[in-house]
Formats: sequence, C-alpha cells, structure tokens
Amino acid sequence: MSKLALLGGEKAVTTEPHSASHHRSPMWESGQSPSWEEFSEAFAEKMQAAYALPVSSGQVALNSALVAAQAGPGDEVIVPSFTWIASVSCIMHNNAVPIFADVDPKTFTLDPEDVRRKITPRTKAIIAVDLYGHPVDLKELLAIAREHDIVLIEDAAQATGAQVDGQIVGGIADITCFSFAGKPIAATSGGVMTTNSREYYERGALGGQHPSTLSKILTNSELLKYASTGGYGDNHRIDRYAMTVAYEALETFEEANEARIANCDLLTQELSRVKGIAPPYVAPNTRHVYHMYSSLYSEEDLGVPRAAFVKAINAEGVTALTYVNSANFLFHPGGKPMPSGPIHHRAVFQEKNVYGHGCPFQCPHYTGEADYSIGSLPVTEELVDREFNFLQPHLSAPNGPDQMEQYPDAVVKVIENIGDLEGYEVD
Ligand SMILES: Cc1ncc(COP(=O)(O)O)c(C=O)c1O
Repeated sequence: MSKLALLGGEKAVTTEPHSASHHRSPMWESGQSPSWEEFSEAFAEKMQAAYALPVSSGQVALNSALVAAQAGPGDEVIVPSFTWIASVSCIMHNNAVPIFADVDPKTFTLDPEDVRRKITPRTKAIIAVDLYGHPVDLKELLAIAREHDIVLIEDAAQATGAQVDGQIVGGIADITCFSFAGKPIAATSGGVMTTNSREYYERGALGGQHPSTLSKILTNSELLKYASTGGYGDNHRIDRYAMTVAYEALETFEEANEARIANCDLLTQELSRVKGIAPPYVAPNTRHVYHMYSSLYSEEDLGVPRAAFVKAINAEGVTALTYVNSANFLFHPGGKPMPSGPIHHRAVFQEKNVYGHGCPFQCPHYTGEADYSIGSLPVTEELVDREFNFLQPHLSAPNGPDQMEQYPDAVVKVIENIGDLEGYEVD
C-alpha cells in the first residue's frame, strides 16, 4: 500500500491549524461603536489617504470608484481576468465594458506592458488587483494612467496593509478599494473607498449613500442636487456592526499582518527547496500581506496533474485550494463542480450578454469589440492551471512555526511519493 493518505496511508498531519474568528467586538458589546465620521477619519489616516468612504462591501467600493471615475456606457475599463468576479462585475454594473489584460507571471498582478497594448480612445479607467495581497506595480501603472489621462483604481480587497516603497496602499493610486469580508481586516462585511481627491470622494458617494450621509460629504455645488435621492440611489451603506469590528481591527491588523508574513517567510524557506514547487514571489520594495499563500505546481517536473497533487496534500491533513480554475464551488445535490477557469472563460463573457439585448457589449454607445477568446491571455491561462493556495486564517496567529512545519511536511511527502499518483483520476 502507498504511504500517501489519499491511497490509504497514514496522514502526515493530524492536528488542525487554528482558524480564529475575528468577529467579536468589545466596543459593540459595551455600546461604544464609533461614529461614521470617526471610522472614516481613522481609516483614512491609517491608509495615508485624504478621504475614506465607508461602504457595504468591497464590490460596492469598486462600484463607487467607477462612479467617481465617471465610467459608463461606451467606456472601457482594463482589468485582469485572474481575480475574483467583483473586480470585473463592478464595470458591468456601471454599464461599461471590461477589457482584460494579462498579468505578470511572477507577481500575478497586471502586466503594465499588456495594459499599454489594451488602451484605446474609449479607456476610462484601469482596475489593478493586488491579488492574494501582493501590491500591483503602482509606479508603472500610475505613469500609464497619467500619460493617457485615465483613472487608476487599485482593488486592494485582499491587500490591506500591503506596501510599496514603504508606503501603505490607500493613498497611492487615484482610488483604492478595500473589503472586510474575511480579508486582512476581517469583519462580517463592509468595505471602504479611499482617495486623495475631493472630487473622486464626492462623486464616489453618489453611487448611493443616504441623504443624511451625503449631507456630510457633498460640497461641490454641481453635485448637491443629487443628495435628496441618495445620489444614484443604490444602497451603499456600511453595516454598523461591521464598521465597529473594522474600527477595532485598525489597531491590530498590522501586527496580524506581520505575524502572517513571518509565517509565510518560513514556508518559503522550506518550499523553495522542493522540486516542482515555486513559492510566491515578492517584488523588491513591496510588502505582500498573504491573504493567500499561492505557489505554482509544475506538472512538467512532477509528471502528475495538479488536481491529483492538491487532492493528495489535502488528504495529508493540510487545507490547500486552487482559487480561480477550480472545483471549489459545487452544485448541490450531487456535488458536481461549477464551471471554472479565468473570468473571461465564463459564460457571461463567452455569451457577451448581461442585461439582455447584448448589453453592455452591444450597447449602441459602445464602438469597440471586446476580445474574450480562449487563449487571449496566455499567462493568466497558464497560472490558473498551476497555482495552489494556503489560506489566510490558517497562516495567521495564533498559528506559528509548529503549524507552518505541517505544510512542507505534507508537500514533501506527496512529492517523494508522487509516482504513486500516476494515473490517479480526480472526479
Ligand atoms: C480581489 C477582490 N476584489 C473584490 C472583492 C469583493 O469584496 P466583497 O466580498 O467585500 O464584496 C473581493 C472579495 O473576495 C476580492 O477578493
């Protein structure tokens, strides 16, 4: 019998890692929630931005950012396909058209050269995603944005606390968007849009805030007339409990990030010695905050498909998942995997129809033709087939060196016995 747990052997790891819940709120329990203004000011100060607009989710922060950028029908917004759908759906929510650009093979974030190739006279904004907590190439992307007079929006949903050249993300791009849904600041829900521009701050709020909130924000005489309808009328209000939890986390998230980074550095030390595995790359002068620890698996070196490898390390007792091209989401009953692959492979983009009548792709205002063909983003398409990820809760304190040993133990054991997985079918 094989030693591998997947094939009936003993597990390499028998103790579960800690998976802390971050949702208890002493302030809430003692009736001392911060006011909206206190939270906004504290968040803006921490992220070194002039303004912070609290909203109901990371997705809604992105919706607000596109309202701020005045991206709408007929406009294009450049975005990666290697991301969570919210980075893309916010574009369609504003009736603009997503144009996918490829990513850098090392950082998994937007490749500035491909962004340049995708710019047209219709481009209104770029949404650059700090995937897994690694910040985007802000310097290059800002230079492109300035050159073409377009707005750089950073989707930092997974990257609260990430840094570039010693500066925390939040006040570097034109607009930055954060999420609190299980992210480096973890509350029950919520998000924030930050910016140094008063114009973007006020326009972003028009996406949909209560008239009483807009009365605190709007000073631009051209915008005041929209206050009574709550701007354009969506409900972007942050939940008060989530805001309280996030406010408390502002005091602790940097320490939590540091502990997780130290844990991930231990993993990298060990995994960089393992054949066929490339641990995450960190670009010089950047701080990666590891919402996920994402490594690349080489089927070419190991001779066995990634799916069998990932199943085998899970069977050894560590949790690893493939994020984008995966069978993580199952239909019930029956447990069949949902269609996966990078975002541009999914039905919405292959069919090019969101609101009916082919809109926004065939909207009469739109004069371009978005290319969503399979094979159009070769780096993305390769990476999503090779990555496998360890998750923020398992990498964070109170987990420490003892728990970090478990990952290389499981990975090394599977790789030493990889031949036993030849021909193994993952259903
Ligand atoms: C990259 C990215 N952008 C945006 C979001 C949206 O955040 P929320 O779930 O708070 O709407 C997420 C959430 O997972 C994300 O991972």
